[in-house]
Amino acid sequence: MTTLTPVLSAHWDADRSWKLDRYEADGGYRGLRRALGMAPADVVTAVKDSGLRGRGGAGFPTGMKWGFLPAPDGGPRYLVVNADESEPGTCKDIPLMLASPQDLIEGVIITSYAIGCHHAFIYVRGEVVHVYRRLLEAVREAREAGYVGTDILGSGFDLEITVHAGAGAYICGEETALLDSLEGLRGQPRLKPPFPAVAGLYARPTVVNNVESVASVPGILVGGADWFTSMGTERSAGHGLFSLSGHVTRPGQYEAPLGITLRELLDMAGGVREGHELKFWTPGGSSTPIFTAEHLDVPLDYESVGKAGSMLGTRALQIFDETTSVVKAVSRWIQFYKHESCGKCTPCREGTFWLAQIMARLEAGQGTPQDIDLLLDLCDNILGRAFCALGDGATSPVTSAIQYFREEFEAGTHTPADVLFPPERSALFDYTPRHSTQLAGVHA
Ligand SMILES: Cc1cc2nc3c(=O)[nH]c(=O)nc-3n(C[C@H](O)[C@H](O)[C@H](O)COP(=O)(O)O)c2cc1C
Ligand code: SF4
Repeated sequence: MTTLTPVLSAHWDADRSWKLDRYEADGGYRGLRRALGMAPADVVTAVKDSGLRGRGGAGFPTGMKWGFLPAPDGGPRYLVVNADESEPGTCKDIPLMLASPQDLIEGVIITSYAIGCHHAFIYVRGEVVHVYRRLLEAVREAREAGYVGTDILGSGFDLEITVHAGAGAYICGEETALLDSLEGLRGQPRLKPPFPAVAGLYARPTVVNNVESVASVPGILVGGADWFTSMGTERSAGHGLFSLSGHVTRPGQYEAPLGITLRELLDMAGGVREGHELKFWTPGGSSTPIFTAEHLDVPLDYESVGKAGSMLGTRALQIFDETTSVVKAVSRWIQFYKHESCGKCTPCREGTFWLAQIMARLEAGQGTPQDIDLLLDLCDNILGRAFCALGDGATSPVTSAIQYFREEFEAGTHTPADVLFPPERSALFDYTPRHSTQLAGVHA
């Protein structure tokens, strides 16, 4: 069985793991010292050689992205860390920033040095105020120790870090919407090209990277490219956080080499909750097509998951057992996409609205015989025609669920999902139907 490879999560259980002195005692900031002794271009090469691919979902090679910045022209260049983490099921960056924020701060400093940035931003999801506070404190500690500010560790390199709290919009995780939001505008995706590398924040060359991508950089500087590529597969190198949630005995973060399988992860997590069996799961969050028990042995790397019909995404493994209504689960996800659609383009704005209507009536057992075809037709009109990947992502749960569980959608024409799958059987906590709580409130 493949073992875990704790790197980012190695010290999460240490006493006050988030403190700078703790981080230094565990070897923190060695990567920065090494980087400052190298030419910036060599740091970029080291990351390119490691094969690190963006951990924010798309898997774009990180070193290559850094290399896209045009030659310095004397003006500012920016690093923006995407810490918006809002995809349903995705829950890796927030624990990372809470338990070990200095991993991220050290990664920010090294990345900024490599790309010639003197002002970096961390755009954090607005609802997680505790994470925002922890980051502010982490930057303060790093500044006091001489890692942030002017002439860092006597190298002559200067860097300011601004932590910015968003207002809690999923679309602000899309990198160009994030940049607009950071500039104080309404968060909506920009037309590309130009890409952020050329015209990003304040129309200046900008690298946008995910929290986990940036936090992985110090380890690469310390361990070297060979160490990093010794984990994972040839084209999906290194370690990654796999977040298991839902109907699993021990949910949580499992840091493992890319290419591990769900079967192996479930073995370590105590399996699907006792007395139940796997029905369906997401490999990378709700925007990635669902898998079933037949996919338990698919290696969780970019290539293998793609070949099997889904996407590795953010490795958000949401596990659902046989007590779950797939129609109800998809209906919830579609409500989310409808709510979060920014409204800029018609296929997504109108399409998610109609998907949500149809899913609601199928969930209520009031669907029509035409509804499955209507859903597929709507998805066909969104996929590839939406302005950004939110629209495409919204179609994934619908089309994949129909592919594997068509009969449940057909049952939605006559029987409510809650009758077929009583919610108290799938709930992981004491279940009180929402309407009875509301009624209790009304009658109180
Ligand atoms: C609707 C939407 C939401 C996204 N949310 C996030 C997010 O919360 N965090 C993130 O890192 N990337 C998110 N992304 C992907 C980013 O656009 C971008 O690809 C990523 O930040 C690049 O970083 P990486 O190369 O390090 O993965 C989102 C994309 C879309 C379309
Ligand atoms: S796909 Fe949706 S979220 Fe993206 S620009 Fe269009 S309306 Fe906005």
